[in-house]
Amino acid sequence: MKKNIFALDGKPVRGAIFDLDGVLVDTAKYHYLAWKHLARELGFDFTEADNERLKGVSRMRSLEILLETGGLAMDEAEKARAAEKKNTWYVEYLQGLDESALLPGSRELLRVLRDRGVLRGLGSASKNAPFILKRLGIADLFDAIIDGTQTSRAKPDPEVFLLCAKALKLPPACCVVFEDSLAGIQAAKAGGMRVIAVGKRELLPGAEMYAASLKDML
Ligand code: BG6
Ligand code: MG
Repeated sequence: MKKNIFALDGKPVRGAIFDLDGVLVDTAKYHYLAWKHLARELGFDFTEADNERLKGVSRMRSLEILLETGGLAMDEAEKARAAEKKNTWYVEYLQGLDESALLPGSRELLRVLRDRGVLRGLGSASKNAPFILKRLGIADLFDAIIDGTQTSRAKPDPEVFLLCAKALKLPPACCVVFEDSLAGIQAAKAGGMRVIAVGKRELLPGAEMYAASLKDML
């Protein structure tokens, strides 16, 4: 391993918990395109910089941030319809999804960790995670899968990662989380876990280690 996760800070690493969108699979771009489409319909532009705040955050919370960005308000029924619309576009983008959407190094890193006895978990906010995992054919590389269908509090709340550590039967302090979002890094830290950020240090403060891609871990 080029970047040794076992040397993070001397404490043992027994579990690795992975975010899905933007860490293992290249779906973050589709979330962005679908939100941008909605913003356009609502009459404002939504930039990639605006989108950073949505990464890792649940669908409903993302909509609230988007509305805040556009200076708009909606009642609960309108919000439900708008979120549903965004999801329909997102799911359309996912229709062609296959293993080629796996980000470089994803499958290899999961295998290396398995072979070194590190338990692997998935900690994703997405309710589409089961569909995506099926398309990618990587579900069997995980010892525990927690997604947006099993959580009630969005990142930066640590719920998803704490549930995952519990499912792996590991104390949070023995787990390291791979994340590409600020909300996710904050969630992992709030849960008492170490974080490897996949992305730029300037955008993602607070992690113990940085990698441009999972390939750089190998
Ligand atoms: C996270 C994404 O993984 O899942 C967010 O980073 C997304 O952008 C969230 O909003 C919820 O996903 P979904 O598929 O349930 O709308
Ligand atoms: Mg992500």
